[in-house]
Amino acid sequence: MNRDARILSGIQPTGKLHLGNYLGALKNWVALQDEFPHACYYCIVDLHAITAPYDPKELKTNVFDTALDFLAAGLDPDKAAIFIQSQVSEHSELAWLLNTITPIGMLERMTQYKDKKKKHVDHINAGLLNYPVLMAADILLYKATMVPVGDDQVQHLELTREIARKFNHSFGDVFPEPEPRLTRGARIMSLLAPDNKMSKSDTEKSYITLDEDPERIKNKLKKAVTDAGTSGELGPGAKNLLTIMEVVDPDAADRFAKDATEGQIRYSDLKMHLADKLGEYFAPFRERRRELAARPDTVWELLLDGTQQARRIASATFKEAKEKMGFI
Ligand code: AMP
Ligand code: TRP
Repeated sequence: MNRDARILSGIQPTGKLHLGNYLGALKNWVALQDEFPHACYYCIVDLHAITAPYDPKELKTNVFDTALDFLAAGLDPDKAAIFIQSQVSEHSELAWLLNTITPIGMLERMTQYKDKKKKHVDHINAGLLNYPVLMAADILLYKATMVPVGDDQVQHLELTREIARKFNHSFGDVFPEPEPRLTRGARIMSLLAPDNKMSKSDTEKSYITLDEDPERIKNKLKKAVTDAGTSGELGPGAKNLLTIMEVVDPDAADRFAKDATEGQIRYSDLKMHLADKLGEYFAPFRERRRELAARPDTVWELLLDGTQQARRIASATFKEAKEKMGFI
């Protein structure tokens, strides 16, 4: 085991988390806090969230909802620091410094930027372009060596490595180059448009939140897009359902996959079985989340404590970087 491992990751507070967030990120985070206790930093990235149109009245609730999801999913404040990005001002400050060594061309080539530019035609702000620089600051401030994310973030991580190299080369060694850590089944697709990833910005019927009521899970899965099921080959929608099934009932996933190769898969059975198993799998989650929601003061205190832990590391690294750059 690498003794010097340091893990950092972040999720935007855009409301309740969905299955894609859990299987692509959060589940991995929980495993890592046990593998590397006291070396994990998990951040609610509210400064990233404001690069897309948002309602200021909802920001705080969304941060709280994300914290509830973190804790209910098993993140343990005794093992990992859970904190709010905007509360540690060094994130914005380091991002500014890193902006000055990041070529614009590289930012313009980021797939997520190009997608968002198309989606929010009336809201293409400089923050959207500089988003990956802030993400690099999030990671580098903690000298993270490992960053658990879904595969859509790998390109941003490559850029982070590039920025770290450039900084070290220009000003002297400060930042280690972080590695991505991907989860299996990392990319969960939309239930209604399975060529796209499951996303909070789509219609509610296309994703399942972690605290989704079992009846609603059933209704959403019923309407999930699949193919005819007779060709012996699985379409993207069916593949996605099997990927999810592998987590909640691996034996059933094997059985249905076998049926599929024989051209005998019945998608209505698959969907109903998956709905039951998902409902069961997340039952303890729903219960924990309800309990925590009833104790908001405790949740805010845990976040404050995490923020204080994060600040200690962030301020030391920031001081080091600033000095190397020649500031007083
Ligand atoms: P976001 O909500 O976009 O901030 O994403 C938070 C984390 O969840 C990131 O690590 C993403 O890579 C991951 N993620 C988001 N959507 C999906 C998805 N559909 N499948 C897998 N991972 C996802
Ligand atoms: N950009 C990430 C996403 O959309 C969120 C994020 C912000 C992040 N800062 C980070 C992820 C630092 C990992 C590390 O999913």
